[in-house]
Amino acid sequence: MTIGIIGSGAMGAGIAQVAATAGHTVWLLDQNQAALQQAAQRIRQSLDKLAEKGKLMVEDATAAFARIQLTENQTDFADCGLVLEAIVEDLAAKQQVFREVERVVSANCVLATNTSSLSITSIAAACQWPERFVGIHFFNPAPLMQLVEVVPAVQTRPGLAKEVHALVQSWGKRPVLVQDTPGFIVNRVARPFYGEAIRLLEEGVADAATIDWAMTELGGFRMGPFALMDFIGHDVNYRVTESVWTAFFYDPRYRPSLTQKRLLEAGYYGRKSGRGFYDYTPGAPIPSPTLDAALGQRILHRILAMLINEAADALHLHVASAADLELAMTTGVNYPKGLLAWADTLGLPHVLQILDDLYHEYHEERYRASPLLRRLAQAGQTFFPIEAIL
Ligand code: NAI
Repeated sequence: MTIGIIGSGAMGAGIAQVAATAGHTVWLLDQNQAALQQAAQRIRQSLDKLAEKGKLMVEDATAAFARIQLTENQTDFADCGLVLEAIVEDLAAKQQVFREVERVVSANCVLATNTSSLSITSIAAACQWPERFVGIHFFNPAPLMQLVEVVPAVQTRPGLAKEVHALVQSWGKRPVLVQDTPGFIVNRVARPFYGEAIRLLEEGVADAATIDWAMTELGGFRMGPFALMDFIGHDVNYRVTESVWTAFFYDPRYRPSLTQKRLLEAGYYGRKSGRGFYDYTPGAPIPSPTLDAALGQRILHRILAMLINEAADALHLHVASAADLELAMTTGVNYPKGLLAWADTLGLPHVLQILDDLYHEYHEERYRASPLLRRLAQAGQTFFPIEAIL
């Protein structure tokens, strides 16, 4: 099957590489000739690196590169069985692109978007045949990240998401099926990792270094929330939070923090600007954490309880299956354990107690426990059969 990719930026180029490596002929389109040339260079370098590391045979890397053709013209998509869009995150621009593409492609060509924050349904609505439309959300960098969120729109024909799931799996990825809801799985469930950590900082419970220490050393997370936010960039991280909050009709659970907004306003984007929560200028002192195990456990359990609550609520609302929720958080953001299995080992009554104590203390909606978590905890049940967690 020939695949068309629209937009040759970081994501489009990466996805083109994945599809070509899997054996597909790929048309990679961009409106900007310079972007196309850069993409070709990036793909070549990325394939060479994989070959150097022995992850790909040199001949296979060369063959994959040869399967990618660059174009500025959508008429080249005429024979495509799938066209995937990865242009700017702008609803009107995406809708316009699909209106144009539908004039070129055949009736059985599947149309897909890589959007992170727009509703799949709203993009599909611009199509004449929206039943062939689906979200295929890759993570950056697409050639290395295993997780792909497959998201049917309201209009998507039954069965298409499963077919796309199988296709993406055949590319060596680990796809999950997700309802068309804000943030899909990862960008929704991960919000408290950042938000609750900032809240602890704002309240003066601990400084950034201590919270990061608790999450990495005691929790086993690869990076602490503040180091990770600085790494992602506050421009990106704040905007994701804001878009999830807005898309959930301003549910206070997802409300962004003023502390992070101020960093953004100051241009303290994190590592890339030399300053964020931490100072990255050469010679700047590295803050040391307070190594207080009791405090660290309190921090870890509060953030963890909030994360578990998000995962539990996503399960409660049938956003995804329990297995897919676990797979998404362990492969998409490298959490050391799936959150639901983690809840089982901590004990659901303990997790519920943390949330209820917070709710009682603050009287804030952000601490409301998911009905599913409460129901299971009160019935003495777990998310998974007990054999799966021992
Ligand atoms: P980017 O800004 O690196 O690349 C976008 C490319 O699209 C540019 O080369 C631009 O010239 C081209 N373009 C813009 N409008 C076009 C049009 N009408 N027709 C043809 N080409 C057009 O963007 P990036 O980061 O690759 O993101 C692309 C999409 O993927 C966005 O929807 C984004 O939300 C989503 N995404 C981004 C991730 C990331 O970490 N960067 C992760 C997952 C999804």
